Amino acid sequence: MEHTVVVRAPGRVNLIGEHTDYNAGLCLPVAIAASTTATATVLPAGPSRLTSAQQDQTWEGTASDAAPGLVSGWAAYAAGVLWALEQAGYAVPPLELHVDSTVPLGSGLSSSAALEAAVAVAAVTAAGLTLDDTLRRSLIAVCRQAETEVAGAPTGGLDQSAILLARPGRALLLDFADGSAVHVPVDVRAAGLEVLVVDTRVSHALTDGGYGSRRAQCEQAAGLLGLTTLREATLADAATLADEVLGRRATHVVSEIVRVEQAVEALRAGDWDRVGGLFTASHVSLRDDFEVSCAELDLVVDTALEAGALGARMTGGGFGGSAIALVPATRAEAVRRAVDTAFARAGLAAPGHLDGTPSAGAGPVDPVTPSR
Ligand code: GLA
Repeated sequence: MEHTVVVRAPGRVNLIGEHTDYNAGLCLPVAIAASTTATATVLPAGPSRLTSAQQDQTWEGTASDAAPGLVSGWAAYAAGVLWALEQAGYAVPPLELHVDSTVPLGSGLSSSAALEAAVAVAAVTAAGLTLDDTLRRSLIAVCRQAETEVAGAPTGGLDQSAILLARPGRALLLDFADGSAVHVPVDVRAAGLEVLVVDTRVSHALTDGGYGSRRAQCEQAAGLLGLTTLREATLADAATLADEVLGRRATHVVSEIVRVEQAVEALRAGDWDRVGGLFTASHVSLRDDFEVSCAELDLVVDTALEAGALGARMTGGGFGGSAIALVPATRAEAVRRAVDTAFARAGLAAPGHLDGTPSAGAGPVDPVTPSR
């Protein structure tokens, strides 16, 4: 029977724990309100057809037409999921699928993973499956496979895990050493605070070389230390690396994993000043040791701190994208205005402002409805 499903998959903000996922480390993301909606209608036969409100390119084909090397552009992420679903053994019916997104592209807020998750959840829901925890975990792997193998972006898994597992009012403590995910309450509003998200509008792309080169340096550092991953390293180990750059890369990863643990403790204790301090320390480490920040991200962080933020940091892969600031609700408007003014003074295009309130992970928004 022909039927239509509508699903929503959010963007994500990583509160802390950056460039740690591919080092078997810890991350602490939340899902945000900005999201991608996918509307899928099961077709009686024939190829699937994918369209997007944000893209001109329409993609039409079967799952095998989206194998690695055959698709490019946005369709690599969307159709790539259909291919990865088939690889994982899911029987997805032919679909007419349309996506529409409020996650700004290239903003470091995981527009790509939101697209992948929206397509994946729409496809399995249209196939009649129930989105339980086991299926969510399996879709994380499917979305990652589409992104790494079809779109060619060597992502570490943080984004897909955040988007598929997040819950409203909770951050997700992800441990990439054992695959565990623990929901940690983060009631910023009750504490009189807000998480501001500022999109610098400097486009960030994982397919650029910077992300891949950081991954390679981390692997090299671990190898030189005789370790499988930097998760097993200590700060003292990092200090023994003769190569100064590798030493700083390892120092960031090791110290960042500790900061995630400390941030979770501080959140549980309601110690927001400490959370803010850890955000800022994370930014300094990403800026100076890992070298993935940029002038615009630094400007947001410095301005937010001067205007009264408890802490601020770049979020996501870096090299552009977005920054977050933890601010007293009473200062939120002043911080946003200060950032706008600083950007205008620096001759930069106006930044975007989004809400970082922890929201729900990907899922159907409507019951399955018969159509026509
Ligand atoms: C990007 C990647 C993630 C993660 C972050 C940095 O968002 O997709 O896997 O590595 O960068 O923390």
